[in-house]
Amino acid sequence: MPEGTMKMGATGPVHLVGAGPGDPDLLTVRARRLVETAEAVVFDRLVAEEILALVPPDALRLDVGKAPGQHRMTQPEINALLVDLARSGLSVVRLKGGDPFTFGRGGEEAEYLRRHGITVEVVPGVTSAAGCAAAIGVPLTHRGLAHGVRYVTGHCQDGGALDLDWAGLADPDTTLIVYMGFAQIGGIAERLVAAGLPETTPVAAVQSGTTPRQRHMLATLGSIGETAALAGGPVLFIIGRVVALAPAQAECHALAPA
Ligand SMILES: C[S@@+](CC[C@H](N)C(=O)[O-])C[C@H]1O[C@@H](n2cnc3c(N)ncnc32)[C@H](O)[C@@H]1O
Repeated sequence: MPEGTMKMGATGPVHLVGAGPGDPDLLTVRARRLVETAEAVVFDRLVAEEILALVPPDALRLDVGKAPGQHRMTQPEINALLVDLARSGLSVVRLKGGDPFTFGRGGEEAEYLRRHGITVEVVPGVTSAAGCAAAIGVPLTHRGLAHGVRYVTGHCQDGGALDLDWAGLADPDTTLIVYMGFAQIGGIAERLVAAGLPETTPVAAVQSGTTPRQRHMLATLGSIGETAALAGGPVLFIIGRVVALAPAQAECHALAPA
């Protein structure tokens, strides 16, 4: 079994596969092999069409994708579907955008499957933080600018307030990545400034990174709330001094409206 994968349980396996941020060339060799030979593929909204094009035409394709506010299938329904498919004896690929264990609920699905006696193989993917940073030429860590990187979600549970450790996150020596932060980025920027980060701290917003639809823009904590206001998802925010290493502003584009 390849390094970085893990087998658990008895029936199955269900392959929990990271599709990466969008460019099919960023799939791992293992992920590509599994997608191209799958008999059933259960995929999310963020899996790029370029990657779905690799699924065999006769395979069962099940779109369980969720757009914000319009859940197509609940998580318990998805869990139950995966168990049924695994028990049917098909070669099942559960395909998730980016890395399945980074803000993808992959851990919950693996636990559920294991509890039901299903073998799980986890195939890591390029998380969108790594993919988007590379795509716009920004290193996530850089000697003298950032000695660490942190990933947080900007998504609020059930519309509640975002409960993050603002004082801890407002560290000028680390890079902060915000997943699912589009709707909240103005408030996030305000909280970071209130906790001590300069308003001039550079921010990059990357939309549909690594796909032919990629756009990005550069702003600051002081301006990002306004400038990102029109953008539709998926958008990833990179906050910190490393963003100043991005190639010239001239190469940026306004984000596309939703
Ligand atoms: C539910 S999280 C899934 C993260 C995924 N598991 C990963 O490792 O990248 C969805 C968020 O990931 C980010 N994202 C995923 N793909 C992206 C892409 N191609 N470009 C920009 N952001 C992306 C966005 O912040 C989006 O709201």
